[in-house]
Amino acid sequence: MHFKEVNKDRIPQHVAIIMDGNGRWAEQHGLDRIFGHKEGVEAVRSVVEGAGEIGIQYLTLYAFSTENWNRPKDEVDALMGLLVRAIVAETENLHKNNVSLRAIGDLASMPVEVQQNLEGAITRTAENTGLRLVLALSYSGRWEIVEAVKKMANELKNAKIDKSELNEELIGKYLPTFGLPDPELLIRTGGEYRVSNFLLWQIAYTELYFTQKLWPDYRKEDLFEAVNDFQTRERRFGKTSEQIRI
Ligand code: IPE
Ligand code: IPE
Ligand code: MG
Repeated sequence: MHFKEVNKDRIPQHVAIIMDGNGRWAEQHGLDRIFGHKEGVEAVRSVVEGAGEIGIQYLTLYAFSTENWNRPKDEVDALMGLLVRAIVAETENLHKNNVSLRAIGDLASMPVEVQQNLEGAITRTAENTGLRLVLALSYSGRWEIVEAVKKMANELKNAKIDKSELNEELIGKYLPTFGLPDPELLIRTGGEYRVSNFLLWQIAYTELYFTQKLWPDYRKEDLFEAVNDFQTRERRFGKTSEQIRI
């Protein structure tokens, strides 16, 4: 699907993507898993470009989960190296395209080299006003909820907040995603029908879109297809269809 065919009146403000299927792509091509991850960088480039073209404001990409630390050390090391190279190679391009970068997750658990390069890229692009690109790294939904609960417990103890103030909005303020609107659309590539601990709090009412396409084969045209599908959905938020249509 071409970007000219996308209805620009109902573009989701925030799209989140579970980029899955790199390993299977590599296997299908008779290659080592890491080549699938490498090829996945091309998909990221295309999707970031496409998101900007149709006016998506926030794009969150699940790049490495808390659970992914349990993969073989070789693969984890290769992924971290790849991440550093991708950040180094792409930062100027992102900057030129007015994209600002942000990261969510347990960044302190990442290798120092990743942390430093990431910080550099975030600082470099901080003033940009176009697409906000969020990388979820060493991230999981339960991890962030635990983080928020720990902080809140501390603030309650120090009387910085009162029990009577606890509500959804306040909890949202303690999550690392604070400031991001909830995603309207969550895309998962690679054919699995699960959320794998991604943005659990934020996807309460998100539209889900699953595709068989493996991440390294994914391109902006596929994103446009998903947005087009999203536009056919009726978001009722508990109300009746009749209430929505007036
Ligand atoms: C997604 O692809 C990338 C990461 C989780 C880092 P996978 O590596 O999970 O690919 P499959 O699911 O094994 O094909
Ligand atoms: C989810 O993919 C995590 C990322 C895409 C970063 P996985 O491949 O790790 O998910 P599961 O374990 O198969 O659910
Ligand atoms: Mg996978």
